[in-house]
Amino acid sequence: MSAPNKLHEAGPIQSKNDRAAWFQGSPAECSDATRPSGLPWRLVLLGAPGVGKGTQAYLLNQRLNACHLSTGDLFRAASKLSECDGSPAMQAAMDHMRRGELVPDSTVWEMVRERSACIRCAGGFVLDGFPRTLGQAEALRQLMKNEKIPLSAVVNYELPLAEIVARLSGRRTCEKCKAVYHIVSQPPKFEGVCDRCDGRLFQRDDDRPESVKVRMEAYERSTAPLIEFYKAENALLPVAATGTPDEICARTISALVARAGAVATV
Ligand code: AP5
Repeated sequence: MSAPNKLHEAGPIQSKNDRAAWFQGSPAECSDATRPSGLPWRLVLLGAPGVGKGTQAYLLNQRLNACHLSTGDLFRAASKLSECDGSPAMQAAMDHMRRGELVPDSTVWEMVRERSACIRCAGGFVLDGFPRTLGQAEALRQLMKNEKIPLSAVVNYELPLAEIVARLSGRRTCEKCKAVYHIVSQPPKFEGVCDRCDGRLFQRDDDRPESVKVRMEAYERSTAPLIEFYKAENALLPVAATGTPDEICARTISALVARAGAVATV
């Protein structure tokens, strides 16, 4: 049994959104979406695998209400069709994954396009793992331009490689609600059991050392160029991913608020 960590001391954590529309696709509707009192936040999270995007997306959802939209979660759920729709794009993605291939941009985009209601949602969004290539970023930019939906910011989390590897090697994920833990820095109250839903915690296959190397290379090749793309769009917000998850979240929100103020006065 592990000691409770700070994230859990405040009491049971309730997700602000069941993400039904994201996992099941149109026409599913989220049952418990909370609308923000002010303008919605529409964020993209960038950063290397394991930097903590999913962890921050969860905390940002708690604090800003914007829904956590993760393509990685979607792919993992796709292997259990009961949790996901069986649309042609989803089926195509699964076929690629079964063959051990990367899912091509056209298929990923089709999956996101089928869920464009989540991008239009009045509650806002925190995109995690998408876009991942310049092609995906261009497709998202076009959709948001056509729909006249402004992007609030692209948060780029920065952390030294050694710390990233340590975070990945200790990660555990809930098979039911996808909550993320770390065996040292964010342990669950009871070993192997999710605090939020009592689901079983497992180690992702792609967190094994040989997979981590491949993912880091893919990140450098395909995703790191997005930093320049969003810099040119004047949307990039670099944030240090050091410290506890709560500290990083507070740092992110301060940077977002400062940026929003600066943009409003331009
Ligand atoms: P995805 O799930 O998106 O993987 P990723 O981008 O590699 O990111 P991770 O989920 O590994 O890490 P994270 O940054 O979210 O970190 P986390 O918060 O979990 O995608 C998986 C795969 O699907 C991809 O490799 C790709 O093949 C495919 N895919 C997905 N999207 C795609 C797309 N758009 N196009 C094509 N293919 C796509 O944290 C990591 C660990 O650190 C956890 O244990 C956590 O508890 C711990 N931790 C977090 N914060 C802290 C902290 N401050 N201090 C200490 N520990 C911390």
